[in-house]
Amino acid sequence: MKNLIDIMELSTEEIDGLIKTALDIIENPDKYAESCKRKKLATLFFEPSTRTRLSFEAAMYELGGNVIGFSEANSSSASKGESVADTVKVVGCYADIIAMRHPKEGAPLVATRTAGVPVINAGDGGHNHPTQTLADLLTIYREKGGFNNLTIGLCGDLKFGRTVHSLISAMSRYEGIKFVLISPDELKVPRYIITDVLEKKNIPYEEVSSLEKAMPDLDILYMTRVQKERFFNEADYLRLKDSYILTPEKLSNAKKDLSILHPLPRVNEISVAIDSDPRACYFKQVLNGKYMRMALILKLLEVNV
Ligand code: CP
Repeated sequence: MKNLIDIMELSTEEIDGLIKTALDIIENPDKYAESCKRKKLATLFFEPSTRTRLSFEAAMYELGGNVIGFSEANSSSASKGESVADTVKVVGCYADIIAMRHPKEGAPLVATRTAGVPVINAGDGGHNHPTQTLADLLTIYREKGGFNNLTIGLCGDLKFGRTVHSLISAMSRYEGIKFVLISPDELKVPRYIITDVLEKKNIPYEEVSSLEKAMPDLDILYMTRVQKERFFNEADYLRLKDSYILTPEKLSNAKKDLSILHPLPRVNEISVAIDSDPRACYFKQVLNGKYMRMALILKLLEVNV
């Protein structure tokens, strides 16, 4: 039985396969409409979500399956002190596959030990968010036609932004990739990602604080929200929350074919005036997330269409 806890558990061939399936789903949705008939997905969300939970649910419904679950810890017996291990052992009696979000890093990994059904990490604390990365990868593929020879700027909260950590790992496997890590000093990419991923694989990267100076070189700009919920101190959050706000003026020296991504939700970091710019891809990314989650559910349930 396979789970998805970290994006690096998928080989590049498996990612290619998921992209191929997602593209086929986009072209031929009817072909997949009953592929998960009588299968149940459980969405166990111990932390808030709009996109991830609802796109998992939409994905399962569009595959002809059903969905059970909860959207906050307080409506589950976790509020009475039940452990993650026991919760998923119980849910594994009802569902064929589990998508789980939890504020504690490693909780979905713990869940794999007792669930008895495939577990998908739908975001664990400030650690990883592999299915957001699948959405990001399909977006990059559809916008750029592939993954090689790209300069990728990641901007904002690179410390707590779990989507950034998963995306750096995923993109580090391709040829000719360069990262520009744009953040305030306090929100730099964790050291373990620099040493274990970038330096280990000799991937060129620079850490800078100016978005404007980095802009002309970028093929992809991945904006992120400052993660209020991970701060210990509100004063620090208030000081850092508006470190970067992308406005049309700041795009004046950007490439004409720049792709602007953001995992969403956005707070202030992309002006709504950017939404009508053809380079804005963040709402396409939302839809791509549903298709990749459909492809992932099919793969983990070993459904061949
Ligand atoms: N991108 C993302 O994880 O959004 P949600 O928190 O709304 O699921």
